[in-house]
Amino acid sequence: MKLTREEQGILTGTNGPAARKAMEILVALGTIYGADRLVTVRSVQIAGVSYDNLGEAGLEFLSEMASKGATTKILTTLNPAGMDVENWEALGIDPEFARNQNRVIEAYTSMGIVPTCSCTPYLFGNLPHYGEHIAWAESSAVTYANSVLGACTNREGGPSALAAAITGRTPNYGFHLSENRRPTLTVRVVAKLSGTRDFGALGISLGKLIEARKTRAIPLLCGITHATMEELKSFCASVATYGGLALFHMEGITPESVLYPTPDDTLAITRDNLEEAVRTSDALETNKVDFVTLGCPHLSLEEIAHVASQLKGKKVTKTFWITTARPTKQIADRMGYTADIEAAGAVVAADSCCVVAPIKNHFKVMATDSAKACYYAASKHGFKARLLNFEEVIQEALK
Ligand code: F3S
Repeated sequence: MKLTREEQGILTGTNGPAARKAMEILVALGTIYGADRLVTVRSVQIAGVSYDNLGEAGLEFLSEMASKGATTKILTTLNPAGMDVENWEALGIDPEFARNQNRVIEAYTSMGIVPTCSCTPYLFGNLPHYGEHIAWAESSAVTYANSVLGACTNREGGPSALAAAITGRTPNYGFHLSENRRPTLTVRVVAKLSGTRDFGALGISLGKLIEARKTRAIPLLCGITHATMEELKSFCASVATYGGLALFHMEGITPESVLYPTPDDTLAITRDNLEEAVRTSDALETNKVDFVTLGCPHLSLEEIAHVASQLKGKKVTKTFWITTARPTKQIADRMGYTADIEAAGAVVAADSCCVVAPIKNHFKVMATDSAKACYYAASKHGFKARLLNFEEVIQEALK
């Protein structure tokens, strides 16, 4: 891999031991994937923040990098943590966990990383532009950045994203190369979609169909006439989870989809496929729901406003978490939405979500509109999940 004189210098330690370590990580990664050089990045999103996932080994790596003087060169934001940093008691978080979680966040902030603790950085300032090279790690945000914004990123791991933040570089391979971004499969969506659950179901269905073909594919989705930002973030989270997709093209949405011919290889997704996807993700345990949550990916302000309007003057009967980014919550606080939601007995939690919080076996059946959260409820937390639409989730909390 060809390095510039400056990059060579960093590799030999001119910018200190942390930058050298970061450059070593990038060069090793680039060599494995056959990159010809490094590209400059101006935005990083780091995953691997919850102490529940990171553990002591991960924290040690971060602390070592911080103690060696690691400093970010570019705008770098953080994924959700295992708790609401300011209000962790409301989520029933153990004080020992809270102490360790704070150590993780302190290690990141000491390196200059902005502790946004959210998977939707594009909603509040970390918004890359079309064609921009970035290094993001959160799977749903990676898919959103590539497919909706038209930025270019591979799905980074925690160390490689941190290395990109410290050096402002990432290896030039994968989705940084336009030849790897061409659609290879046309997907005709023969169903009218509406709401976050429908788009989540589309992600399940498409992800499973692509996995079953056992060949890597970049789909071009045709036939979707309208999609909101909220529906797209739901779809991105779902298709990244069920199909491992970091890039899709959607007609009328993905900026670069007009650059490529429509692939001949075609499959169709019908309303029956979507209903089947919902059925397989829905535990159907209608009487046993004891945990209700919205906010995977983190809710937008508009979604929070809607929840507030539906809960105002009522009381929830179950644990109900509404998870979002702190900047979004701060606006919701000012607008009075948080007060209305909390007066109903629900919790508006910033910085965290139902997947990365340490709630294994805390509940039996979760109700949510998020296909991604359903997947992890079963695989990580040991509880069943019901995949409902947004309105049904709110009604479930009030039942
Ligand atoms: Fe975001 Fe947590 Fe879902 S990180 S995409 S809210 S699993």
